[in-house]
Amino acid sequence: MKFFLDTANLAQIQEAHDLGILDGITTNPSLMAKEGITGEAAVINHYRTICEIVDGDVSAEVFSTDFDSIIAEGKKLAAIHPNIVVKVPIIKDGVKAMKWFTDNGIRTNCTLVFSAGQAILCAKAGAAYVSPFVGRIDDSGWDGVQLVEQIRHIYDVQGFKTQILAASIRNPNHIIRCAEAGADVCTSPLEHILGLLNHPLTDSGLAKFIADTKKSGMTLG
Ligand code: E4P
Repeated sequence: MKFFLDTANLAQIQEAHDLGILDGITTNPSLMAKEGITGEAAVINHYRTICEIVDGDVSAEVFSTDFDSIIAEGKKLAAIHPNIVVKVPIIKDGVKAMKWFTDNGIRTNCTLVFSAGQAILCAKAGAAYVSPFVGRIDDSGWDGVQLVEQIRHIYDVQGFKTQILAASIRNPNHIIRCAEAGADVCTSPLEHILGLLNHPLTDSGLAKFIADTKKSGMTLG
């Protein structure tokens, strides 16, 4: 399973990149606004900077909801860098636009996916990625990982090539469960990726090893 970072924050992107396990980035209009990125020039410049840091796919979301405007925006985003994947919402004009992008060699990430039916439409439109929102489904009292499992099953049975990108990750356990469920990619805030490191027995074990090293005077230097 690939690890994407779900942020537009350059410091966090650099930190995850330096860790050596970063495979890509997803952003959305809320994450861009959080970083104070507004205006076409600033948006394009920000995506260019992200693509310079990360050697992997970078999802850039369109703001429009009608076919012509989605196409115009998506073309501009795709022209920024070959690693840009145009993120499109699962609405009627979005499906039509994704099919157009697919036919014209532009890769897409279908976002705001909350059902298996929506995931089938993404695949039929030739999306490179489908993004089920695991955390938001859990927030509304359903099981987000179950949707990832269901999409995995359907895509395998039907031979759909669209990659399942588990999104809206709320904790480290979501990452583990999405890996078990067969997600191709998991996009997460940095804190939940780093949360995978945590175990109290690791902390106490390391403290003991350090104490014993000091006691014995052992050194390699
Ligand atoms: C998906 O790509 C979205 O950017 C994101 O995962 C949404 O997460 P949220 O529900 O925490 O806003």
